[in-house]
Amino acid sequence: MEDIDAGQAAAPELYAIGGGKGGVGKTCFAVNMAVEIARNGWRVVLVDADLGCSNVEAMLGTEHSRRLDDFLFDTGEDGLDAVIAATSYPNLSLVPGTTGLVDAANPRLRQKDRLIEALPRVDADVIIIDLEAGAHLNTLDLFLMTGPNGVLVITPEKTSVDNAFKFLRAALFRKIERFYQSPEVGMLLKRNETLGDFTRSIQASTLFGAGAKKRICGEIVALARSLRPKVVVNRARNAYEAQIAANILSRLARQDLYIKPEPLGFLFFDKHVSEAVNSGVPFIVSHPQLKVSACVTDIANRLGFMQP
Ligand SMILES: Nc1ncnc2c1ncn2[C@@H]1O[C@H](COP(=O)(O)OP(=O)(O)OP(=O)(O)O)[C@@H](O)[C@H]1O
Ligand SMILES: [Mg+2]
Repeated sequence: MEDIDAGQAAAPELYAIGGGKGGVGKTCFAVNMAVEIARNGWRVVLVDADLGCSNVEAMLGTEHSRRLDDFLFDTGEDGLDAVIAATSYPNLSLVPGTTGLVDAANPRLRQKDRLIEALPRVDADVIIIDLEAGAHLNTLDLFLMTGPNGVLVITPEKTSVDNAFKFLRAALFRKIERFYQSPEVGMLLKRNETLGDFTRSIQASTLFGAGAKKRICGEIVALARSLRPKVVVNRARNAYEAQIAANILSRLARQDLYIKPEPLGFLFFDKHVSEAVNSGVPFIVSHPQLKVSACVTDIANRLGFMQP
């Protein structure tokens, strides 16, 4: 939105919307946030990175012929720009998801890395990446690339909080694995469920000298602290219920992973959300008067994307 320096575009702010569990409302949140931020004047690109089962197009009521598959599997030089499509919403563009066919759902490491390299170069103010459920390595790497802008969408249900915790642990362990690229560290990671257990097994290991052990433990704690995911509680009946769910996740993450999540806000459960999904019009547009729409506006404001 701001003209920082003529000729030199600022890198976009990247947000990844994940959370581990399926059906908690990741895509609903990503789509409505994208529309809200775009209509406040920022140039937004929404990326449907649910490689197995994309549905952003259905929620936006659009259909495109070129999609993420064409970027992942084409050897042409066109790059990601070639698959970014305009939408009927001003300032909002879309990278439509894959077809979900076998190859598209499982891009190889190199294809995924090309996407990770291309995203920060897109000419936009904000990029919102809608992730798939589960903790597939591609999903974890896209989540990690956004640094402190990884958003975990949870619901007040215990199973959702548990899955978000597991997703976070998988993301942290992936981050540690990538940092060291060492088979010894990788082997110890696989044997432990908490960061405390992992640092203790490093201390007890005969694979490292005393100096290396101290350094590795310090680095691991720093890697954990640098992961500051934001938490959104969806489908809450009230603010209190949302707060409790966010607190439970925070406590587990601090205790077992040394990660301090940042509460970002909550969205009310509202039956009109499902009507909006079926109509292909985001609820923030079709039902602006609802409390759930005000929640999206609040979160956009909290992130600094308010109306000028
Ligand atoms: N705040 C809400 N109130 C009521 N229903 C909701 C709300 N948010 C989402 N839903 C319902 O939950 C359904 C699933 O939402 P959505 O597709 O966004 O979940 P998801 O986490 O992206 O799922 P997946 O893991 O399959 O990608 C929606 O179709 C909608 O009907
Ligand atoms: Mg989804």
